[in-house]
Amino acid sequence: MCGIVGFNGYRQAAPILLEGLSKLEYRGYDSAGLAVRNGTADVELVKAKGRLRALYEKTNGGMAMEGTLGIGHTRWATHGEPSETNAHPHCSDDRNVVAVHNGIIENYKELQEKLLRNGYRFYSQTDTEVAVKLIDYYFKKYKGGPVDAIARAMMRIRGSYALAVLFKDCPDEIYVARKDSPMVIGLAGDETYMASDVPAILKYTRSVYYIGNREIARLGKGTAEFFNIDREPVEKEPTEIKWDAEAAEKGGFEHFMIKEIHEQPKAVRDTINSAVTEEGTIDLSALQFTDEMIRNISNIQIVACGSAYHVGVAGQYVFEDLCRIPVRVELASEFRYRNPILDPDTLVIIISQSGETADSLAALREAKERGVRTLGIVNVIGSSIAREADHVFYTMAGPEIAVATTKAYSAQLICIYLLAIRFAAVRGNITEEKAAEMIAELRTLPDKIERILEDKERIQWFAAKFSTARDIFFIGRGIDYAITLEGSLKMKEVSYIHSEAYAAGELKHGTISLVEDGTLVIGSLTQKELYEKTLSNMVECKSRGAYLMGLTNYGNYSIEDTADFTVYIPRTDPHYTTSLAVIPLQLLGYYLSVTKGLNVDKPRNLAKSVTVE
Ligand code: G6P
Repeated sequence: MCGIVGFNGYRQAAPILLEGLSKLEYRGYDSAGLAVRNGTADVELVKAKGRLRALYEKTNGGMAMEGTLGIGHTRWATHGEPSETNAHPHCSDDRNVVAVHNGIIENYKELQEKLLRNGYRFYSQTDTEVAVKLIDYYFKKYKGGPVDAIARAMMRIRGSYALAVLFKDCPDEIYVARKDSPMVIGLAGDETYMASDVPAILKYTRSVYYIGNREIARLGKGTAEFFNIDREPVEKEPTEIKWDAEAAEKGGFEHFMIKEIHEQPKAVRDTINSAVTEEGTIDLSALQFTDEMIRNISNIQIVACGSAYHVGVAGQYVFEDLCRIPVRVELASEFRYRNPILDPDTLVIIISQSGETADSLAALREAKERGVRTLGIVNVIGSSIAREADHVFYTMAGPEIAVATTKAYSAQLICIYLLAIRFAAVRGNITEEKAAEMIAELRTLPDKIERILEDKERIQWFAAKFSTARDIFFIGRGIDYAITLEGSLKMKEVSYIHSEAYAAGELKHGTISLVEDGTLVIGSLTQKELYEKTLSNMVECKSRGAYLMGLTNYGNYSIEDTADFTVYIPRTDPHYTTSLAVIPLQLLGYYLSVTKGLNVDKPRNLAKSVTVE
């Protein structure tokens, strides 16, 4: 996600801010900006699209900006394309309030309407500009000072944020506030440093204060005071950071992959909240996908590569079951050369984390050329697929650094569920009550994923036991087959153990000849109607010597009569089980790789974004 830095002291601020931002570059960004204050003079703002280098050059390494207090930001687009206008800092028209922001403000549209009614104008497409102007509005309306204005804004804002704010009347202070988005503050003598992530300030101090959720801080030169949302002072003790610089980049996790596995509850929650209203209904207006378009769809073709293709396989089951629309899922590299039959009312859905995968982009262009409607499910705003598709549904996963995708995959699944529920409701396949019930259950997924993650040590233990395995087979039926495809891919990508996913019923037509004494066979059994069927396929493997791992819902304890090792996932709507069952399989791949001492974040021969055929 975006990065924030801040400095308040007696040295020139801009070079320090640029250096801090450079320590956050690994997180990914598309533009950057600085706001520096020189005494009581007006704030100076400089922004640049693209690499930090551009901002560096514009400011002569920061030397061109005088002033000893400032804030800086690297932006990863969530609302509005990467551009200088959308880059932070944002300010009120009179530069009374200037701020940078990380996170997502869910009710920004509603707040923007309120501010428009009060004479505010907006120049960017960002939710941040709304936050800045809301603070300005409360500052001027109630005249209660910065802490009061920020607290009032926090009471109105829904979503997550870390904010760093400068006020015209307070030339020697930076104000910060946060909810569900990190922020640390470090004091070193008469200097104060602030950042969204520890690596940016590690060089200056290891003694930091963490601001709590819904708290505000006033940062002077070498001082920090804290307040709760009721404006009451809060006492805090500093914490000593023991991580080295490398560990700090990973937020204390050993690798990006495990960090991103743990970020899945947030990625899922943010993606749900991007399209579900406060009243619990699905709003696709941001995609400009109308009910009439939904009614006209005759069939859906989902096209993607790698894990995104596996989301498509799961999506096929969900769409067909809920909406009764015929769905075909295809690998982009096949679709583009197959001369596909597309009738005018076909909807082509392209799924891509990067939005740049060459085959997926070519497939999109092929579909557009044939005049059918296209919808991209994309993580990177402003990417080629996002720009070229007729409609875009953004996954709110934030930048993904590990080559093997985890959180983007999970966020893509959510987009599929939301589309399927909405399509089914509009087309009359399910009642509004059923849709509401499904949305309510969807909202429980982040907590359920969290519960699975709490039990990760069992998977770690199991991985240690099988680190020398030569082949691993995954089996499942229906949605469970889609789950095993992704489990098997994760496994081979990062652990280099040969693995295959098979539709359980197909096992007898070939793969079973590879099962020997001790071969690990992993069965996914999350679908009630298919449980007995897959279980009997597992028994067939066991009688040929296989060691069985079962992956099923809590309550299906009879599996223990057959499986040698079982992982349970919380119960949910059967359409959503992929979101839960994939977590232990991601963990298994990860721990196998780590146990074998491999480079889990950058596996050999693989690339994060495949921009060649
Ligand atoms: C590469 C990555 C995979 C990803 C696939 C599709 O192979 O290593 O993790 O699933 O590309 O990428 P996309 O960006 O289109 O989702």
